[in-house]
Amino acid sequence: METSNNIIVGLDIGTTKVCAIVGEFKNGNLDIIGLGSSVSTGLRNGVVNNIENTVDAIAKAVENAELMAGYQINEVIVGIAGSHVRGFNSRGIVAVKSREVTQQDVDRVLEGAKSIAIPLDNEVIHTIPQEYIVDEQDDIKQPIGMSGLRLEARVHIVTVSSIAAQNIVKCANKANLDVSDIVLEQIASSEAVLTDDEKELGVVLIDMGGGTTDIAVFSGGTIIHTFVIPKGGQSVTSDVSLGTKTIPQEAEKIKVQFGIAKESLARKDEIIEIPGIGGRPPRTIARQVLGNIIEQRMGEIFTWVRKNIEKNGLENKILSGYVITGGGALIDGCADLAEDIFGAPVRIGTPRGIGGLTDVINSPIYSTGVGLVKYAFKNNLYKEPMFKKSSKNIFENIKARLLKLLEDFF
Ligand SMILES: Nc1ncnc2c1ncn2[C@@H]1O[C@H](COP(=O)(O)OP(=O)(O)OP(=O)(O)O)[C@@H](O)[C@H]1O
Ligand SMILES: [Mg+2]
Repeated sequence: METSNNIIVGLDIGTTKVCAIVGEFKNGNLDIIGLGSSVSTGLRNGVVNNIENTVDAIAKAVENAELMAGYQINEVIVGIAGSHVRGFNSRGIVAVKSREVTQQDVDRVLEGAKSIAIPLDNEVIHTIPQEYIVDEQDDIKQPIGMSGLRLEARVHIVTVSSIAAQNIVKCANKANLDVSDIVLEQIASSEAVLTDDEKELGVVLIDMGGGTTDIAVFSGGTIIHTFVIPKGGQSVTSDVSLGTKTIPQEAEKIKVQFGIAKESLARKDEIIEIPGIGGRPPRTIARQVLGNIIEQRMGEIFTWVRKNIEKNGLENKILSGYVITGGGALIDGCADLAEDIFGAPVRIGTPRGIGGLTDVINSPIYSTGVGLVKYAFKNNLYKEPMFKKSSKNIFENIKARLLKLLEDFF
C-alpha cells in the first residue's frame, strides 16, 4: 500500500465506536478520502479501561480506513475526553525585550501563563491564546511586531490526567501508530461543525457522545470555557432499559428506532412494540412513555450544561445560541428539547467545510474524527509526530498487520 505526506488521520477513540478518518490536503484544500469504524468496548465514560479491546478496535478501524483511502496509515492525531479534563482561564505577563514584540516574547508569555500550579499527575494539552495586551492596548490577536514594553496574554488552558493520556498513546502505539498530538474532543468537534461567525458572536458546542457530554464555549472568536459532563447516550439507553424492562441491547435499538427527546412531540396514539424477554410475547407501550424517559435524562444533562454556563456568568455571551453534535444529537426532537431548556436557538451540527466523501461523513457521530483532521491541518501537526513509537519501521508495521490478519482469519 502507498504512503503519502499529504495524509492526515484523525482517530476518535470513543466510548461506543472508534473511527479513523483520513484527510488528504491538496492545493490548500482538505478532502476526506477514507473512513473506518469499529465497535468500541474498551472505554468507560470516555476513558480507556481495557487496553486490549481498545487496541483491537483501533486496528480494525484503521484497517478499514486504509482500505477505503488506499494508503497505509502510520500516524494519527487522537482525541481525549473524560471527567479528568479541566479547562480554565489563566494569564501571563512579560517585559518586551527589544521594545518590539517578537515570537520569543510570545513564547515566554504563553509559557508563563502555563506555569500555574497543576496537580502532579496532570499535564497541559492546550494553551489557547484568547487575547494579548501590549501596554494598555487590549484585544490583540497577533502581537508580533507591535511596539511596547509589556506583553500580557490571556489564555484558556486544558489539563488532562497523564495516565489517561498515556493509555491512549499506548493503545495507538500497540496498533502500530505514531501519535502526532492529543486534542480535547470538544475542541476537535468545534473545528468540524462551528462557523467562524458563531465563534465570534458566542456559541456553546455540546458533543453528546455515548459516555460523556463535552462542552466548549466560544466568544470573540476564541474558546472561553470548556467542561465535561460524565453522562451521555449510554445513560439514556440504560434508563430506557430500566423503564421498559428490556435488556440494554434491545433498549438501544428501541431508542434509535423510536426514541424521541420530548414526550409531547409523540402523538397520543403512537404505540411501539417491545420484544419480550426469555420467550415471553412482545409488549406494547405508548411512544409518549418512551419520550418521557428520554426527556427526563436528556433534560437533566442539558440542565447541567445551562447551570454550568450560568455559574460561570456566560449566558449573556452566547449570542448565536447552541450547537449539538455527537450521536446523542440524532435523537428526534433533540433540538426542540434543548431550545426549551436553554431558551436560545439550537441547531444540530454535522461536519462542514471539507471536500471528498462528504456524504459518508455527514453525521454528528463523525464530528470529532473530522474535527481532528481539520485541527491537524490548521495547526500543521502532521509534520513531526510528537509521540513516536520506538523502533518502528514500515516493514515491522506491515509484518504486524499481516500477523494480525492471520490471527483474525484462523
Ligand atoms: N440514530 C440515533 N438515534 C439516537 N441515538 C443515537 C443514534 N445513533 C447513535 N445514537 C447514540 O449516540 C451515542 C454514541 O454517540 P457517539 O458515536 O458520538 O459516541 P462516542 O464518540 O462513541 O462516545 P464518547 O464521545 O462519549 O466517548 C450512543 O449512546 C447511541 O445510542
Ligand atoms: Mg465522541
